[in-house]
Formats: sequence, C-alpha cells, structure tokens
Amino acid sequence: MTLIRSTEDLGHWRSNVLDQTVAFVPTMGALHRGHLQLIHVARQQCDLVIVSVFVNALQFGDEEDFNKYPRSLNTDYEACIAEGATIVFAPTANDIFPTNFDRHIEPSSIANLFEGASRAGHFAGVVTVVNRLFELVKPHVAIFGVKDYQQVVVISEMSRKLHPTVEILRVDTVRDIDGLALSSRNARLSHSAREKVRVIPDALSHIAEVFQGGQFDCAILKQSAFEMFGTEPDLEIDYLEIVDRETLERQAIARPGKSVVLFAGIIDGVRLIDNIEL
Ligand code: PAJ
Repeated sequence: MTLIRSTEDLGHWRSNVLDQTVAFVPTMGALHRGHLQLIHVARQQCDLVIVSVFVNALQFGDEEDFNKYPRSLNTDYEACIAEGATIVFAPTANDIFPTNFDRHIEPSSIANLFEGASRAGHFAGVVTVVNRLFELVKPHVAIFGVKDYQQVVVISEMSRKLHPTVEILRVDTVRDIDGLALSSRNARLSHSAREKVRVIPDALSHIAEVFQGGQFDCAILKQSAFEMFGTEPDLEIDYLEIVDRETLERQAIARPGKSVVLFAGIIDGVRLIDNIEL
C-alpha cells in the first residue's frame, strides 16, 4: 500500500527501508504543477520519495481559513504516484498533534518579518509541523519551493539546528503561462482579479531588468515597480522590499547574487505572495 494514514504505519515502513535514501516533499495538498515539480526533483535525488499531505491547523491564524482550505486527497494521491512518489503520507491531526503534544518549536527572529508580521504565529506553526514530520520521515533530503521564500529560509534555519544531516533543497517557482506564480489560492480569484494580478510577475521582472541594466539603488528599483502597480489600484500592496537573501534584512543597495525582492498583496480578499532573486 502506498497511501499511509498513521504515524505508526509510517514508522514500520521507514524501518524497512533503512538501506535506501529518502527524499521528502511536505505539502498541504490541493496539489498543482508547482508541487509536482518538487516531486519530480525529489525523484532525481534519492531512491525513495515520500510526499506528505497534511493541512496544518497550527500555521493558520484564522479557523475559517483553515476550514476553507481545499482538500482533495484522492486526486492528490493519484497525482503524486503518477509523478513517481513512493509513498503518500496523509496522517490525521490527532496523530501528528496528540492532545499531550508539547514540542512546539520557536522559529528564528526572521519569522517575525514580512509574512510573519502579517500572520502572527504562522512560522511557529510551520517549523513545529516540519520538525515533527522530519522526525517521523527521517529524510536525507527535503524539498521546498522558493515561491514561499521566507518559509524556506525559516525552515532551513530550524533544520540546520535540529536536523543538521537533512539537506534542504530549493526548487524554483513554477508559473502560469502569463507568469503568475502557481498557488492553490489563485483558484479563489475572480476572472477580473486574475487578469489584474499579471502585474505582479510583470512588476517583479521589471525590477530585475532595471537591476540588470545597472541600477542598484533599491529606492529607485522599488519605485519603478510601484509605477506599474499603480495601474492596478485594486491590488493592495502589503509589502514590496528588496532584502538580503539570507538574513532578509532590507537593503539600500541591491547586490548581484545577494538580493531578493519580496512581494505580498491582496486582491478580492485573496493574499498572494511572490519574489524574484536579483
Ligand atoms: P504548500 O502550500 O502545500 O506548499 C508545499 C510546497 O510546495 C512548499 O515547499 C511550497 O513552497 C511549494 N510550492 C507552492 N507553490 C509552488 C510553485 N508555484 N512553484 C514551486 N513550488 C511551489 O508550504 C506549505 O504547504 C506548508 O507550509 C508546509 C511546508 C507543507 C508545512 O505545513
């Protein structure tokens, strides 16, 4: 059986494959081509690939948001196996977080910035579940999307401390034909909002072009994007910042190979994030 529903069954499975390498792709399901790309990369890394599908209540600020999160285990399972996953691990909430669960993990201070500032407790929930999953899965390699840039930085710091033998691999963002980063939230956009949010990848690519043209001043780079965002006033910008790729500290002067532009915005009540490395 390649669908595992309990931590106990996972433990049995794992203890039988100790001589093989394991790549791990954690997800919350509702899988799209972005997730499948992580599985594709995972297959190239190790003998076996485990995908977890678990909607983690700890990382949602709002119970309603958690309840509304799309759940489609059957199609997710089929898609994972078709992409070459060995095992899909879809545990219950009680199994992952039993009532006596007390191993909450505090993320590094980077977790208070950007997404963390807008979503209190979000990254504590993320690192707590990823730590728990790493303990169960015992992967050699774990694969995350650069789409959630801050998330992969925060998880890498947690992993360096608590799971130093796990290699964290980053996979580039998979995009729609017009450049919009794939996200399960895109399905919640109205037709007109979907049209308007093309400005996000356009504006980020524009920053990268101006940067490549020799402009390193972050204020000027950001201004060039704000002018483009100005054409879509329905898109409310939460943040647009140029930061150090490792520390996420704001930069005044962008540096090749050292800077990343982080963006978050809200349209139609849907929050979208994206980024581009310079
Ligand atoms: P989820 O949003 O399901 O994303 C699972 C993984 O897919 C993450 O590593 C995310 O960065 C990656 N991903 C999402 N969209 C992508 C895209 N367009 N291109 C490439 N990769 C993409 O992120 C989470 O779940 C959770 O926080 C989790 C880490 C599983 C902890 O609960």
